[in-house]
Amino acid sequence: MKVYRHLSQIVTLKSAFDKDGRHLVPTDLSLIQNGAIAFDDNKILWVGEDQDLPHEYQALKSFHGAGFVLTPGLVDSHTHLVFAGNRAREYSDRLNGADYQAIAQKGGGILHTMTKTLAASEEELFVLGVERLERMLSYGIKTIELKSGYALTREGELRLLQVAARLKKHFIKKLTLVSTYMGAHAVPASYKSSEDFVTQVVLPTMQEGHAQGLIDCVDVFHEQGYFSTQDVERIFATAHSLGLALKIHADEFQDNHGAALAATHGALSADHLLKTSTAGISALAQSPTVATLLPGTAFFLGKELPRARAMLDAGCKVAIASDYNPGSSHVDNLLLVASIAAPSLKLNQAELWSAMTLNAAAALGLKDRGALAKGLVPSFSLFKANDLSEITYNWGVSLSQPLP
Ligand code: NIG
Ligand code: FE
Repeated sequence: MKVYRHLSQIVTLKSAFDKDGRHLVPTDLSLIQNGAIAFDDNKILWVGEDQDLPHEYQALKSFHGAGFVLTPGLVDSHTHLVFAGNRAREYSDRLNGADYQAIAQKGGGILHTMTKTLAASEEELFVLGVERLERMLSYGIKTIELKSGYALTREGELRLLQVAARLKKHFIKKLTLVSTYMGAHAVPASYKSSEDFVTQVVLPTMQEGHAQGLIDCVDVFHEQGYFSTQDVERIFATAHSLGLALKIHADEFQDNHGAALAATHGALSADHLLKTSTAGISALAQSPTVATLLPGTAFFLGKELPRARAMLDAGCKVAIASDYNPGSSHVDNLLLVASIAAPSLKLNQAELWSAMTLNAAAALGLKDRGALAKGLVPSFSLFKANDLSEITYNWGVSLSQPLP
């Protein structure tokens, strides 16, 4: 059992938790000044003002938290961090006028990373993954989703899922990792159509990966030139029959009604949503599906940001994630992305912090974290600050501290 006392501030998000992460106002942060928290390995036992700490916890040796802010553990619910190589050249080409989709059509983009990833050994991919996750941990990120999707062959995708499983084991004490199978990320040139690729590779690999216990969620890139609505429906039907949770890359380059598709199928999240219509937004608002915004991608591709305010006002559960990948969003720092995006997206502080914790956890199907309250999992981030506002105010500077 552990006790932290006299924390300058505890950001509990208790009220946001009770409101299911929707329609939040700043007081839903449920801040505690001069706070204390007691917890064991599995759950939070008590949280409140230090002066109210029950006797049974007062006798224990504790961490003196003055000068520190404790928040629910940050959650990055959308990354593609298992890859080899880089696409700096394409970034340069885009600055010089080329377009992301046009680069992809010429065999660059995801297929370029596919070639590099297939050429790397499992050990190389594992070592790259360890380096990347250590860095994310240093920013205070505690729960991270990793997608496969840069191998796009049966053996290759299974290897990426195995790398994810090894990473889970390696970080078991420090991070919660969620493994998402995204065989439907792009269609390799050797297939006649996306439909063929789904039949020959995406579905059988999902079945095999599931049989080996390697998959937590299934994701699809639903976009013109990638996977159609029909492809999505086939993939979702198989995932559903295996009991796997669903996610979708939706409405990134144009409105393909991906948001409504996600809501209809009870997906955990619909991600990107740069072009989602008002009808799509209301479909999400009326569903448990989280609207996951990836502002890093909009910044990196020079696209307009999503209509966050419309989503929040309609009652959507909104999360923010990094979309860390070598092409469209080469950034691993969720706090930096969210901190830069918040003023443009017009998020209040409760919306901002729920987007990086509570709602991001919901986007991974994790209902046991994202707030600090008795009975929840003890996943925290600790920052050297006296007030929550300092954390994102210092954009690009990590105030995160290792947990005592
Ligand atoms: O979320 N949209 C699909 N996948 C990634 C891009 C991957 C890449 O360009 O390598 C994304 O933006
Ligand atoms: Fe993505």
